[in-house]
Amino acid sequence: MANKKFSDLLLNWFDLYGRHDLPWQKNPTPYRVWVSEIMLQQTQVQTVIPFFTNFVRLFPSIKVLSEKNLDEVLNSWSGLGYYSRARNLHKAARMIEEKYGGVMPTTTEELMGLPGIGKSTAGAIIALALNRPAAILDANVKRVLSRYHAIKAKPETARTKKQLWANAEMHVPTSRHREYTQALMDLGAMVCKKDPICSRCPYTNSCAAYLSNSTRIFPGSGKKKSSKTKSTYIAIIRNRKREILLERRPESGIWGGLWSFPEFDEKNGAETIILNVMDSANYYCEQLPPKHHHFTHFKLILKPLLFTLIGDNSRLLENDGRMFFQKKSAKTIGTPKPVVDLLNDLWRKNKENS
Ligand code: ADE
Repeated sequence: MANKKFSDLLLNWFDLYGRHDLPWQKNPTPYRVWVSEIMLQQTQVQTVIPFFTNFVRLFPSIKVLSEKNLDEVLNSWSGLGYYSRARNLHKAARMIEEKYGGVMPTTTEELMGLPGIGKSTAGAIIALALNRPAAILDANVKRVLSRYHAIKAKPETARTKKQLWANAEMHVPTSRHREYTQALMDLGAMVCKKDPICSRCPYTNSCAAYLSNSTRIFPGSGKKKSSKTKSTYIAIIRNRKREILLERRPESGIWGGLWSFPEFDEKNGAETIILNVMDSANYYCEQLPPKHHHFTHFKLILKPLLFTLIGDNSRLLENDGRMFFQKKSAKTIGTPKPVVDLLNDLWRKNKENS
């Protein structure tokens, strides 16, 4: 059942503050409304006005439009952009001539069968030109309804779209369809904007987003919360016995107290580590593929450099919280998941090569 209050409040607002003098509102034939709706799909009202006036002067009817060659139509579109709109209008005009004897069809299904007309544009043509009940759901209306019903999910997902259409249909009134539809567009364009002017809105007693002081989070962007990314080099230092050097992390911070690989910001920082902790600086170095690890608030990219020490005398200068671990003992200490994964990769490789 139609939600009376929603449409009543909107129509009262429209009578006072809505737009009543747009060129396509004068003599709103299906053809004129169609042309205006196509132009308004991707372009602002003020830009559209002179193009609309010119277009309907050059091509005053579907018949005339269908008889023109495409270049002439495209030429009239020059400066408006998104030229497929002009191509579709021209093609659709020819289809209407052929299939419907030059008379614009009036059902949603038939209209949607024409190129460039989706469900919302079909609804707009039916309501604005014929003053018949039909729902619309363009970007402005999505914003209004997302806020009014506090629908947080991204409007482009199938589930949300379905929900928004259901609400749009529920609110369609039983009369004044033309004005109601224009009013909904006007409210979205003039009041319920990206930065809404709620003090001018008729829904301050019923808009769920307004009442919860959260208009700004609707409609949902669907974008994942931007999570910070941190990246760091890690040194995987392996000695001749295939033991691997781990160090105990400080108690505070991520992985506090766990055993991990030495970390450093710059690639050549690894050499410094080796020179500082080993009595041998002979090694091969190999860059391994990065490992991504997701924390709740950020993503960590570990960029491993594998150092294989050469010579038997590579000993730790001092223990200092660092130790070489054999596979068996490494399995018994606390190590973070990506470290376990890297160790397992290495030991698996060792096995394959031995
Ligand atoms: N955007 C889409 N259709 C519109 C219309 N009829 N008036 C104003 N803006 C619109």
